[in-house]
Order: sequence, then C-alpha cells, then structure tokens
Amino acid sequence: MTKRYELNELIRSDNFIDGKWVVSAGGKRFDVTDPATGKVIAQVADSHAADARAATDAAARAFPAWRDTLPKDRAAVLHRWHALMVENADALGRLISLEQGKPFAEGRGEVMYGASYVAWFADEATRIYGDIIPQQQRGKRMSAIKEPIGIVAAITPWNFPLAMIARKIAPALAAGCTVVGKPAEDTPLTALALVMLAHEAGVPAGVLNLISASRDNAVPAVADWLADSRVRKITFTGSTPVGKYLARESAGTLKKLSLELGGNAPFIVFDDADVDAAVTGLLAAKFRNGGQTCVCPNRVYVQSGVYERFADLLTTRVAALKVAPATDPAAQIGPMINARAIDKIARHVDDAVSRGARVLTGGKRLPELGPTYYAPTVLADATPEMQLSCEETFGPVVPLFRFDDEAQAIHAANDTPFGLASYFYSQDVRRIDRVARQLEAGIVGINEGALASEAAPFGGVKESGYGREGSKYGLDDYLSIKYLCQGGLE
Ligand code: SIN
Repeated sequence: MTKRYELNELIRSDNFIDGKWVVSAGGKRFDVTDPATGKVIAQVADSHAADARAATDAAARAFPAWRDTLPKDRAAVLHRWHALMVENADALGRLISLEQGKPFAEGRGEVMYGASYVAWFADEATRIYGDIIPQQQRGKRMSAIKEPIGIVAAITPWNFPLAMIARKIAPALAAGCTVVGKPAEDTPLTALALVMLAHEAGVPAGVLNLISASRDNAVPAVADWLADSRVRKITFTGSTPVGKYLARESAGTLKKLSLELGGNAPFIVFDDADVDAAVTGLLAAKFRNGGQTCVCPNRVYVQSGVYERFADLLTTRVAALKVAPATDPAAQIGPMINARAIDKIARHVDDAVSRGARVLTGGKRLPELGPTYYAPTVLADATPEMQLSCEETFGPVVPLFRFDDEAQAIHAANDTPFGLASYFYSQDVRRIDRVARQLEAGIVGINEGALASEAAPFGGVKESGYGREGSKYGLDDYLSIKYLCQGGLE
C-alpha cells in the first residue's frame, strides 16, 4: 500500500546523496522562510562545490546499472513515485504553500500537475524507439538507436517547486540517465520531499541526488557541475541571464542544454474576440501563482473597438480577487516570494504611472496583510517606453496597451528578445491561422488561457531558451542518437 505522510514527516533538511541523507561538507545551513510571515520553516544544508562533486560521484557510479535496467522496470519505479505523489498530494500541496506562498488549492493542483509528468514519462520510457535505416549499400546494415545521455544536472526555480523538478527528473530517469539536482534557495523543501518519495518508490541509491545551497553558494556548487565532463546535460528553468551563464560556462565540456528561460508574453484581444472569454482567459493565464509564472501574460494588447469594454470587465473581475495568506481557504492570490520580487513589481507600477499609465484597480502594496503582498492591478494607457513593457514583472499586474490594426499588434507582440508563450483571442478563422503563424513564441494560446499539459511540448524560442519539456518530444533532450553500421553481411 502507498504510504501517506503528515506534512512534518515530509520536511527534510539534509542533502540526499547516494541514497542517504547527509549534512553538507562544510556543515553549514541556511534558513527557509514562509514568504507570508518571514518565519523560519527549516534550516537546510548550505552546499558548496564538494557536495556537488559528491553528488556527481554517486550519479557516475549509479549510471551504468540504471542505464541497463529494462525500460519497463524504470517505468514501474516512476509509476510508484507517481502514486506516492498523488497519495501525498495534500501534504505536498501544503508544503508548497508554506515555502512558496501559493494558495493551497494551487499548491495541490501543482502536485497533480507535476505528478502527471511523472506518469507520462513512465509510459514514455517504454517507447524509446530507434530506426532501421533503409539499406544504402549491399552487405551493410544501418540503424539508429537512442541512448541515455548520461548524468543530468537539474537546476530549478522557486515558482513551481514541485512541477519544475518533476518534469526534469522524470524524463531523465525514464531515459536511463542519473541526476544531480539543486532546487532554488527559496523553496528547497518540496524538492527534498519529492526525492524522499522517489527513494521510497525504489529509485536506486545514486540515481537521484539533490543538494540545496544558499544564494551565495549556489554559484560554486553549480560551477562544479558545469566544469565536470561527467555531467553531460544541464536542464534549467529560470532567468535568461542565468541561462546564458550556464551556456557559457558549460561550453568547456560541450554539454547538452535545455533552457526554459524568461518570457514577456503578449496577450492580444482583437475586435472580433469573444470579450468575456478573453477576460476569463486572461485571469486564468495572468493570476496563476499571483502572476509569478514564466508564461503569464506580461503585455496585454487590446484593439480600440473593444478596449473600454474589456478594461471595464477585467477591472471588475480583478478587483474581486481575494488576496490572503495561503492558509486562508478563500485565498486566490498569496504573498509574492520575497522582498526583491515585491520591490520589482512596485518599481514597474511606479514607473508606468510616472509615464502616464492610469491605475484602474490596485497599484499598491498591502502592508495590512504583510510586506510581501501586492494588490492585483490593472493599468490602462500602457506604452512601450514603460519598464513593464520590456521586462517580465512576475507579479499580479496587467498593463493594457491599445492598438488599431493587426500588423501593429503583431509587431508589438514580437518586439522583444523573448519568445516563450503568447496568447490571442479572435473568432475569425483566417486571422487565427495568420496570427498563430506570425507570433514568435514556442507556445501560442488561441482563445485559451490555460496551456499547461504533460502531453504538450513546453519551451521557448529566441532568448526564452531551447529544448522542450513534456510530450513525446520531451524525452529527446535526455537521449543521444547512436548510428550503428554493420558491414560484412554479404
Ligand atoms: C514556468 O513558470 O516556468 C511555467 C510553468 C508552467 O506553466 O508549467
């Protein structure tokens, strides 16, 4: 029977290396705090290069045996891990809320979302096919087989403490790779709990290793992986500057990279859109995790004919959103992750207002709730000169830009170095086809605000990175193709 844990039983504070919980080599720890209150939840290992190295050593020892397991046996382990995640969805959801701040319903939703990738890749493990290449010369047989790439280093962000690491570890293990990982310093507890469940599911010692590190020590720890030729792949979700650093620093050992980086998603509402549906879609896309999602719309372009109506409907719905701690069952938006995050949001709104934006609702911090709360905000009359037009705000702020024609909207939407998600609403079939093809983004939502699915390829273009997570394509990033040419057959 699958074991159900209490929340406190899931809280781990040491590194997990070679199947054991171990203190960091330097014996140091750092605080993990509740973003709603600043209260310390746990003190976890503050790892350095020596810990990263120990994790790699374990992953290297474990690789040959894990690579050679039957795919159906790897699948069985992943299915058991999935079952444990589902069985413990309440406790894991509460842990996510506690260290990340999202309301419990969203935290639990994230557990199920992350678990869906584990189930998906469990099945995909048994479908890693190669090819027999049609014969080119007599006496020669040519084929292509797929092999696990080797040790994978997974580096994950704080905004989805469970889903982001699950959707990296699951395909890596399914492919036959071993893993070393480091979660974000703000939210290591969920990842540590997940690793504990993976161990219980039967992931062998050394196959999955996780270390935590403070902001200061993250660089030396990760640098060890970047320089180590045994680590063959880096998979990272986070900011574009860090993604570029990883690409630069791993070039010395030419690792394969999957980089899911920052976005600056446009959301376009054409005059021919179903305006009610567009408002509902925007709410779903924008306010998930309080706007702290790489695929959250950051710039909302509304055509002149529906601008006022859209702004009115949106303002009414946004003003009704309930901001409260994650522990409040009615909460729809929790605290932002930390002081840096809330300062950036306030800076973006202040800059926009100083350049002529009108606050339709929100536009302020909520000190009565705590220092990390910001009111859901709608700003009218946004312009391209404003900081929030060029930078991801990563908070509950919707700037409305007015446009007159389709070409203008497409130009504005694409006028960014980023290209992760984009969204548009229209009921004209010809326009839908045209606009979907012209948007420079890895993901396009058409009359839909909720895009995430384990069955879909998630990833960006331009400076939003490369590689895809989820779907039948998601496994390719963890495999290399080997060409076999057998001669002397005649
Ligand atoms: C992200 O913020 O990286 C994306 C989360 C998701 O929609 O899966």
